[in-house]
Amino acid sequence: MKKIAVFTSGGDAPGMNACIRAVVRTAIFHGLEVYGITYGYDGMISGNIKKMQSHSVSNIIQRGGTILKSARSEEFMTKEGRKKAYEQLKALEIDGIVAIGGDGTFTGAKIFFEEFGIPTVGCPGTIDNDIFGTDYTIGFDTAVNTALEAIDKIRDTAAAHDRIFFVEVMGRDSGYIAVECGIGGGAEFVMVPETETDLKKVVKSLKNLRKSKSSSIIVVAEGDDEGNAEVIMDQVKKKVNDEDKEFKVTTLGHIQRGGNPTARDRVLASRCGMAAVEGLMNGQSNCMAGIVNGDVTYTSFEDCIGKTKPIKSDHLKLIEILSI
Ligand code: F6P
Repeated sequence: MKKIAVFTSGGDAPGMNACIRAVVRTAIFHGLEVYGITYGYDGMISGNIKKMQSHSVSNIIQRGGTILKSARSEEFMTKEGRKKAYEQLKALEIDGIVAIGGDGTFTGAKIFFEEFGIPTVGCPGTIDNDIFGTDYTIGFDTAVNTALEAIDKIRDTAAAHDRIFFVEVMGRDSGYIAVECGIGGGAEFVMVPETETDLKKVVKSLKNLRKSKSSSIIVVAEGDDEGNAEVIMDQVKKKVNDEDKEFKVTTLGHIQRGGNPTARDRVLASRCGMAAVEGLMNGQSNCMAGIVNGDVTYTSFEDCIGKTKPIKSDHLKLIEILSI
């Protein structure tokens, strides 16, 4: 292996830059040439590929976003698009790829590897933490802390006005952010896509809680089966039917995707980046470098995409018990 390429794809996540830095510097350390592909698979198709040096990644470890930009590519979903991408990489004699992203990125990487055979190792970059084969994904810790900071602030004003707040956090298919900032933020309820939401139970509990608590925080993952926070709040409000109670919704949105990565995310990103490059050098391919129980592991893309990493039921129980 002499020349590798690295790119970021899908929703950006804080720590992607730290991961790019680790990939570039590990590659150079081991005597490889390294190329950065801008705009993910779209950049691969259009040939937006440039050689990187050690200084190309100076002063980025602390920055959110991704210096290589990100995109979700429609064209790469077609065979013609992937063929174009292959031609671009072939022209540069790229013989290894590091793909930083989530399940969409790995789905593309798996198909691309199966069609054209360029060895590829992934790094788990998504705030959603919904990737099998790693305990945490790059960006998750930062996103949880961003949401938690917001919840702490909302709690102040909720308490001051005796209000019930529905706080919507990101997670189209995943409730990890909701669960962790729900536990950390002392939420009364957390609603996630992975489990069926029982609104009757929520209404009943809110009515009971009225005796002991004047304000409540309910964290809703955007992809909950009952709808988003606005929809759920409307239903709950009608059923609680208490004119003295004010209900409010705060949608945190994309602030969760930005900001300086936490120390944990920087370390995770650096470890995964190094492991991806060294994995490629040692013959790993069609897999993701992740951290399980503190150690680097390589998990096939097939498992990363196909297997689920369920939310621990004791986490949900914890929220219920601690909210009395
Ligand atoms: O995949 C990460 C994620 O943040 C999801 O939780 C969210 O639903 C989605 O990205 C939104 O992405 P975008 O607005 O960039 O399309």
